[in-house]
Amino acid sequence: MSDQVHIVEVGPRDGLQNEKTAVDAGARIAFIKALVAAGLHTVEVGAFVSPKAIPQMVNSDQVLGGLGGVGGEFHVLVPNEKGYDAAIAAGAKVVAVFASASEGFSRANINCSVAESIERFKPVIARARADAVKVRGYVSCVLGCPFDGEVKPQAVVDVAQVLWDLGCYEISLGDTIGVGTPLKARRLLRAVAGSVPMARLAMHFHDTYGQALANLYAGMEEGARVIDSAAGGLGGCPYAPGATGNVATEDVVYMLEGEGVATGVEMSKLVAATNEMGKLIGRAPVSRVAAAINAKRS
Ligand code: HMG
Ligand code: MG
Repeated sequence: MSDQVHIVEVGPRDGLQNEKTAVDAGARIAFIKALVAAGLHTVEVGAFVSPKAIPQMVNSDQVLGGLGGVGGEFHVLVPNEKGYDAAIAAGAKVVAVFASASEGFSRANINCSVAESIERFKPVIARARADAVKVRGYVSCVLGCPFDGEVKPQAVVDVAQVLWDLGCYEISLGDTIGVGTPLKARRLLRAVAGSVPMARLAMHFHDTYGQALANLYAGMEEGARVIDSAAGGLGGCPYAPGATGNVATEDVVYMLEGEGVATGVEMSKLVAATNEMGKLIGRAPVSRVAAAINAKRS
């Protein structure tokens, strides 16, 4: 358990894309800078997707542009070559493609089948390799789908394998609607690790049913060491009523530090960044740790 754990902060993208109140590019840049200053050096900062689909992510080019000189690795989502063109023009060095393990979510999210989405990603990944741009691969709905219900581990293995073989450096397994349990997370990681090295798997767990920390702990026991989380537990899922955001970064950091895993994250700075964002979106952080620290302070 005491090995290094890599946290990928996804609040500025996965979190803010699902908040009702859109946040302008300047405030997103300030948020990202505050997160980096708190010690989170890998941050997903935006998405080059249809503005009709996700209006919260407009001006992601300005966000990337505003991070010049900031020492971090900044990721952006791209669903197709149009998004890739825009990301590269804005200076992206790491892009993420996102497929689904279930057909229903693929249709709703990116308006195509899983197989069609892979065909769209092929030229994106090929061009990225030629441009020396790193590509991360997401698989969504790995522990359940809001449309199709149960998702078999083999469906996840198949998509993860394809993305890995195409050249993604890391595969992030998304429990998009947060329905997983530790046993399911453990079985899934074991299954996917037969195709993709465990060290290259990220756990991207939403916290709808309050299981995300337990799921992460089970995954760590299996050897997984990359965790996606969102400051304050920002976000939700537009296709799953009541779904909450990613596991909160504060909660993950608190658990890891308590396990003797040094994260390099300064909690007070992280909570301050979360609080500033909370003022802009008009709600208190979902993070239990942030809430506890705020309560203690007041
Ligand atoms: P479509 O309607 O099938 O695409 O959408 P299209 O090619 O027919 O184009 C329709 C319009 O979108 C056109 O504009 C295109 O130019 C434009 P119009 O002529 O109507 O004015 N368009 C674009 N605009 C900006 N950037 C682009 C782009 N591509 C086309 N890249 C599409 C297909 C994929 C574009 C759309 O469905 C889309 O953008 N979806 C994105 C959805 C999204 O971002 N979802 C959230 C991220 S996934 C997630 O959160 C899960 C994750 O966190 C993991 C987990 O939790 O499991 C990653
Ligand atoms: Mg997500």
